Amino acid sequence: MNRRTVKINVNKEYDVIIESGILPYCGKIVKEKLGDCRIAVITDSNVADLYLKTVLSSLAEEKLPTEHYIFNAGEKSKNISTLADILEFLADNKLTRSDAVIALGGGVTGDIAGFAASVYLRGVKFIQIPTTLLAAVDSSVGGKNAVDLNAGKNLAGTFKQPDAVICDPMTLSTLSEKEFSNGLAEAIKYGVIFSEQLFEYFENDQIEDNLDAIIEKCVVFKGKTVEKDEFDTGERKLLNLGHTIGHAIEKCSNYTIPHGFAVAAGMAMTARAGEKCGITNIGTANRIENLMKRLSLPISTTFDCSSMTAAALSDKKRSGNKITLVIPEKIGKCILKEIAVDDIEDFINKGKNDQWIST
Ligand code: NAD
Ligand code: GLY
Repeated sequence: MNRRTVKINVNKEYDVIIESGILPYCGKIVKEKLGDCRIAVITDSNVADLYLKTVLSSLAEEKLPTEHYIFNAGEKSKNISTLADILEFLADNKLTRSDAVIALGGGVTGDIAGFAASVYLRGVKFIQIPTTLLAAVDSSVGGKNAVDLNAGKNLAGTFKQPDAVICDPMTLSTLSEKEFSNGLAEAIKYGVIFSEQLFEYFENDQIEDNLDAIIEKCVVFKGKTVEKDEFDTGERKLLNLGHTIGHAIEKCSNYTIPHGFAVAAGMAMTARAGEKCGITNIGTANRIENLMKRLSLPISTTFDCSSMTAAALSDKKRSGNKITLVIPEKIGKCILKEIAVDDIEDFINKGKNDQWIST
């Protein structure tokens, strides 16, 4: 057994358990954390085929009664309509306040199931079982959830910390190369914000053999940040590196460009613009771009600046006539900088590059 446990200490303390091969035993941990209760497992159509049976069997072994709900995989399902269907499903199955929701899947599943667990009966117990790299290193930890509205990404949501996160890195072996790279973008983000040493793991191609350790490092960085600023009023905003531009790319693509890809381009563009504004050390953007290219991640966008600007201005990080950008000073250190909405188009323009590298 090679278990890594990261404790997250916010309004309640919970464990993020990372262990290869733990999925068939997840029921034991669920029982330890929640005691006897009924469980609704929420998952998407791809993950259901791969891992739902294993999870349901493990819960049954612990004599935990289950229901399950499967929605169509993909960001396009992360909307009010799917959320409403899940809430009706919980009600039809008469889940009570002492029962629980489990999110089994990637960030889309975690976000939508977390939202449902947060508002159904004003809140029921909630466990995250991430199955994408993106969810393992980022979205399953920290309690943010959301759905997308027509006007933009993640515009409705709540904070709902999970009671536990159970991460089996072996589940990541079934991800396509593209989905793996998508998650790497969020992991690289932790290197750019907090740690040059972590960034070098990626530069030196030390990923596959160190996956459990990389997930643990990202979770530790995220946990420490969330502990200082659970409700995203200060330091937690740093975790949005690449997201203002990234969300604009996602929206302009009608959500056909995956979140991690959009964030990768957002990070590269922000570093490039940061260099031109004299904030970012020269050479930083090149290092980020070279890494992204090697991992087949994009470094810019083909969408025009005015569409990007319109999309960026519906970003929830906007406050009145200002928007807070996260800008790297160098690899391992970023700052928050408020800029006027009138200046955002110029910033995006400075970040653009003729190259669009994507699989
Ligand atoms: P996703 O959940 O859609 O998963 C990506 C694809 O991988 C889907 O098709 C899914 O079915 C498939 N999949 C999942 N696990 C698999 C496995 N083990 N093997 C094979 N296929 C598998 O997307 P994602 O990239 O995991 O997450 C992106 C979402 O996360 C976005 O909506 C983003 O806004 C959100 N997010 C939330 C937070 C947060 O803090 N709440 C942070 C970052 C991102
Ligand atoms: N993914 C950004 C956050 O959790 O704050």
